[in-house]
Amino acid sequence: MKIEETLQHYPKENLTRTPTPLQHLPHLSAELDVNFYLKRDDLTDLALGGDKPRKLEYEIAQAKAKGADYLVTTGSAQSNHARLTTAAARRLGLDVAVVLSHDQYHAIQGNLLTVYLMGARVEMISTEDHWDLEEHALKLVAELKAEGRKPHYIPVSGTTPHSCLGYISGALETLKQLKEQNVVPDAVYLPFGTGGIFTAMLLAFREAGFEMPFYGISVNRSLDKCFANLDKWWGALCELLEVDPSRPRGEYHLYEEFIGREYGDPTEAGLDAILTMATAEGILLDPVYSGKVFSGFLAHHAQGQWRGGQNILMLHSGGVPAIFAYADVLKAHLQKRGRL
Ligand SMILES: Cc1ncc(COP(=O)(O)O)c(C=O)c1O
Repeated sequence: MKIEETLQHYPKENLTRTPTPLQHLPHLSAELDVNFYLKRDDLTDLALGGDKPRKLEYEIAQAKAKGADYLVTTGSAQSNHARLTTAAARRLGLDVAVVLSHDQYHAIQGNLLTVYLMGARVEMISTEDHWDLEEHALKLVAELKAEGRKPHYIPVSGTTPHSCLGYISGALETLKQLKEQNVVPDAVYLPFGTGGIFTAMLLAFREAGFEMPFYGISVNRSLDKCFANLDKWWGALCELLEVDPSRPRGEYHLYEEFIGREYGDPTEAGLDAILTMATAEGILLDPVYSGKVFSGFLAHHAQGQWRGGQNILMLHSGGVPAIFAYADVLKAHLQKRGRL
């Protein structure tokens, strides 16, 4: 396949052991009368795992080629990306600063605790909107430059054209495992934050000749922004991989109705989804990303969309450390469901 060869031309730092497991979940499958497969990117082996090591492997390689000695990024108080950028910087011997929103989940718990433990420079900004932190981060970048440092700015969620290559690679790895396990999914469920993961996996599957529908569960943005982001990353990735951007994208659907009131809102459906997965399989999901993706699948299943042995593939992109910052919400939910 052509993109596989082109991908080899891009430099990559080694931040995690791969492949991550592709697991068939027998109990959940029996319960829902489907064959449910989970790609376990929560098990990448950098500081409690998740999607970011794949992205950062390509992004930091670009930064290092330009001589960067300092990484700067942004996110919410419970940013998984801040945790994993900090860990990546430490692993590669770089300095690191994270500019975070002082939102309601700012207790020294979960991801934020780990960021402090790994010694990042933390700047807390009083805003609820962590998508608005770029100007603060760029100011810090300018200050660091004035001090003679070589900072590299990584945008929120770590999504850049080069970082998306990490999920081209992740998708190719998944396709290889599907082939080995003799499984062709009937549907693929993915998170949609900035859309980096979704766009890259969609492109890689289509280039490999797989045309099953893709389902993207937005965790924060309205549909118009999701579609705009998909266009943006699609164009950028096609350019890097020398693919005609007008090639058909096949069937895909994006959903905004599982977000709740806002990003990070622990929806009732998301909390129930966490309990369902944990109880059936002993696998932990989180209230911000993976729980919401799974709640999207469960809603479609409840509507009768998936019954009768279909093969469902879902990506577990990580995020589990956030459960400790949401402990009060999870406790209340356990009480509500009579489990505490
Ligand atoms: C656990 C987890 N899953 C998914 C995403 C979203 O990925 P993307 O922005 O590429 O859509 C993030 C982004 O921060 C994340 O932390």
